[in-house]
Amino acid sequence: MNGDFKHIPVLPQEVLKFLKPERGGRYIDCTLGGGGHSKMILESSENVQLLGLDQDENALKAATKRLSSFSNRFESKRMNFGDLASLKETDWDGVDGILMDIGVSSHQIDEADRGFSYVHDGPLDMRMDNRQEETAADILNSADERELTRIFREYGEERNARRIAKRVVRERETKQWESTGEFAELVKAVVGRSKTGKAPSPAKCFQALRIAVNRELEVLEDGLAAAFDMLKPGGRLVVISFHSLEDRMVKEFFRDKALSCTCPPDFPVCVCDAKAELKVLTGKAVMASAAETEDNSRSTCSKLRAAERI
Ligand SMILES: C[S@@+](CC[C@H](N)C(=O)[O-])C[C@H]1O[C@@H](n2cnc3c(N)ncnc32)[C@H](O)[C@@H]1O
Repeated sequence: MNGDFKHIPVLPQEVLKFLKPERGGRYIDCTLGGGGHSKMILESSENVQLLGLDQDENALKAATKRLSSFSNRFESKRMNFGDLASLKETDWDGVDGILMDIGVSSHQIDEADRGFSYVHDGPLDMRMDNRQEETAADILNSADERELTRIFREYGEERNARRIAKRVVRERETKQWESTGEFAELVKAVVGRSKTGKAPSPAKCFQALRIAVNRELEVLEDGLAAAFDMLKPGGRLVVISFHSLEDRMVKEFFRDKALSCTCPPDFPVCVCDAKAELKVLTGKAVMASAAETEDNSRSTCSKLRAAERI
């Protein structure tokens, strides 16, 4: 691991605006990363206590070091936020706010040996948690053509998903997939230049493989349900996502919890007695300003949604 942990927190002011940590209280940052958002939350009030979670050992070490001056108000734990429900009935149940800034950090992408990058050659790893067994290479070397097509299409929205999957499987007859460089070259060769002459990019397939390796959508589903459950009334949930599938999951989760009636639309009167459990605070997803995207290109596709438990 490099000495520095480089990661600029996205939508910093918006996170503070919706979490409102200046009112004090207990907060969980489910995606500690470099500790940028956590630091801002801890600095907003001396009455803030924060638990930071990350499944990545390096991130946890770097953030814990960075936030060591807050030691009496800050705790960290190596954990997947998909297991957040395991914190129910601990001191961290019934909190004032929960933040999820999902996806990978710039640091993870920059470290070639983590295998997230198509710019630097490295092993096809892509595990955020290195205790997990399955790597990106394992998926490329064992999934059948249909499953690979689904991964590239569904998680990467890659138009050439089927052709890429076919080539991955065909090349397995003579070799094992091992390096990010080899896989990037295959994708570029299949995709080819666009009609306007734009160079092909393997970005979508890398994103798709990463989502599959880390089961990011399944984990988000579990994490959202547990996070809602752990908020006290008036507590706020803020989620930043970087992918349309994730953003849609967050939007639909909030919408369902905000519904005050679940009767079929043709029922003349409400018979369900359902009550809204959440108030959605962001009509449309909040996006980074032009100034922020200029300073931090990673913020370009970030989308923030926030809600308050009733
Ligand atoms: C985008 S970065 C967060 C950056 C952080 N907000 C900051 O300001 O530095 C995402 C971090 O969340 C972690 N992460 C992603 N999914 C996770 C999950 N399901 N459980 C725990 N940590 C996760 C990654 O390892 C990474 O360190």
